[in-house]
Amino acid sequence: MTQLSPAQKSVPKTLYGGTSSRRITVRDIAAAKERGEKWPMLTAYDAMTASVFDEAGIPVLLVGDSMGNCHLGYETTVPVTMDEIAILAAAVVRGTKRTLVVGDLPFGAYQEGPVQALRNATRLVKEAGVGAVKLEGGERSADQVELLVSSGIPVMAHVGLTPQSVNAFGGYPVQGRGEEAAQQLLRDAKAVQDAGAFAVVLEAVPAELAAEVTRSLHIPTVGIGAGLDCDAQVLVWTDMAGMTAGRVPKFVKQYLQLRELLGGAAKAFAEDVIGGTFPAEEHTFH
Ligand code: KIV
Repeated sequence: MTQLSPAQKSVPKTLYGGTSSRRITVRDIAAAKERGEKWPMLTAYDAMTASVFDEAGIPVLLVGDSMGNCHLGYETTVPVTMDEIAILAAAVVRGTKRTLVVGDLPFGAYQEGPVQALRNATRLVKEAGVGAVKLEGGERSADQVELLVSSGIPVMAHVGLTPQSVNAFGGYPVQGRGEEAAQQLLRDAKAVQDAGAFAVVLEAVPAELAAEVTRSLHIPTVGIGAGLDCDAQVLVWTDMAGMTAGRVPKFVKQYLQLRELLGGAAKAFAEDVIGGTFPAEEHTFH
């Protein structure tokens, strides 16, 4: 019988729910595309929540600049800084064992050019310990992707609706509608693939166009508001768990009403304190 080496034994058979004890790498992601395996990705911004998702078998966690709206109280992702991403990405890495942690490069951290991108991406790899970085843009960011990848930093790209450009877009409109816009989106996705990206997020793109992009690329597409045919799907965790206040985008499915549950727990605690029933005997030292 052929003996498997420890490294061979730990090769994950599937990205989601696999039992390998080592961290998922970009090579595992490429193998999943070859197998035609779909995979889930969530955002995470702290060690405790990240550990829940890691234990649940989520293979890729994105420390997204969506932390701006979802964690830090900003209105958009634009104000998020490298320091904020670096601190929270380090926490997510500490909270996880198996998941591939991807750190987002925030607005202003790579637009100056490839050298600035390399400096900031290197910081996330060295200080936070992320296994890959993400940046927004297709053709316009291809030079940045190329230098990072040739320097040994895996890159997830992000095309379609790129929220860091909210001021230029004048909001968050669906992208790639109409022949010209669709052709540009295809060129953007191909440009980042050719530059060496290991995956590309397609955000707010018509499902038919996302399916065409997915068929024409050899790297996986990660859809958010891009239909069923992408190789992977990502949601912002606070949207997915019903923690976000107010209206959520059409593409969000809420799997829990966490905001309501947490608020209910806080009210129950407050009522116990006011009514003098907490702490009870079992919570008391003598
Ligand atoms: O910052 C983020 O969370 C993202 C995802 C929505 C893809 O970019």
